Amino acid sequence: MLASFFILLEAIPMDTLLQDLLNQLSNTNKIHDLDQLKSKILGHISSQMKGMKDLPIESRKEFGAKINQQKNYAEDLILKQREYILKQEQQRKLASETIDVTLSPRGNNLGTLHPISLSLNRMQDIFGQLGFDVADGPEIETDYYNFKALNIPDNHPARAMQDTFYTSSNNVLRTHTSPMQVRYAEKRKPPIKVIVPGRVYRVDMDATHSPMFHQMEGLWIEKGISFANLKGLVIEFLRKFFDDESLELRFRASFFSFTEPSAEVDIKSKSGKWLEVMGCGMVHPSVLRYMNIDPNEYSGFAFGMGIDRFTMIRYGINDLRLMFENDLDFLNQFRGEM
Ligand code: DAH
Repeated sequence: MLASFFILLEAIPMDTLLQDLLNQLSNTNKIHDLDQLKSKILGHISSQMKGMKDLPIESRKEFGAKINQQKNYAEDLILKQREYILKQEQQRKLASETIDVTLSPRGNNLGTLHPISLSLNRMQDIFGQLGFDVADGPEIETDYYNFKALNIPDNHPARAMQDTFYTSSNNVLRTHTSPMQVRYAEKRKPPIKVIVPGRVYRVDMDATHSPMFHQMEGLWIEKGISFANLKGLVIEFLRKFFDDESLELRFRASFFSFTEPSAEVDIKSKSGKWLEVMGCGMVHPSVLRYMNIDPNEYSGFAFGMGIDRFTMIRYGINDLRLMFENDLDFLNQFRGEM
């Protein structure tokens, strides 16, 4: 495109300086350089014009026409070169911004499973192999399911044991996963074998308590189920979870309003300390009735455990708050864990 201009240029008579300046145009590739060259060219042309007054009157017209022709010509050339430079710049920019999709990604920052998820998966695997279904339930729970149907009537001291977040006079953030016992069982016929993991909430916060934490409930209702079945299952689960066939544990008599008899389970840590890990017991006859299940025909047991606590024991984590701070240095330690 530019070459044709320079050919035409030869048809216009001009002095060698102007010719030289115009020739330089095709070598400019920056707008700044072009602007400088432009002012040189136009400066030269206008100084030629100024000399016109010294010419004899008869040659002025011809001279003026020639200069005008040169000027139009020069301006046209400058404009063309400007467009050419801008286009080049745009192409350079586009080329430099091209994304090479074949390059490997910078920083291969894949996430890891949170230790609580690792524990939860492990629990679900173990109970899954033992024939349990998995269910989940609402985190905003009614007073009925959270307390009443679990045999915790108004003003019962058990309510004070669990400092409760109320969302309205009748609704709470569930203080445990136990409300799912009645919710799940009232719609089904035994045999019922289910675990219910989920978030629970209590007004509490220190190194071993968080206002939100995770529990897992278990429920098994069938004809002829006894405390011996409960013990057998708990022992099998705990030994599998902690990967220790000779894990020592003990059942301590305890009280929960929704189970009778009730027990708490302790395991012996590597350092010989007893650690409480779960609550359990035979489902209370009144709770069976809330489930529309006849206590004379069926029996069952329930258990509840803190998933966070299991995680802390398994991985030797000493502060519960670490679990909820999203600190990458902490979380990255669990990369590759199963
Ligand atoms: N819901 C109890 C708690 O949050 C834990 C629990 C104890 C659950 C005994 C049960 C059980 O199912 O049988 O402290």
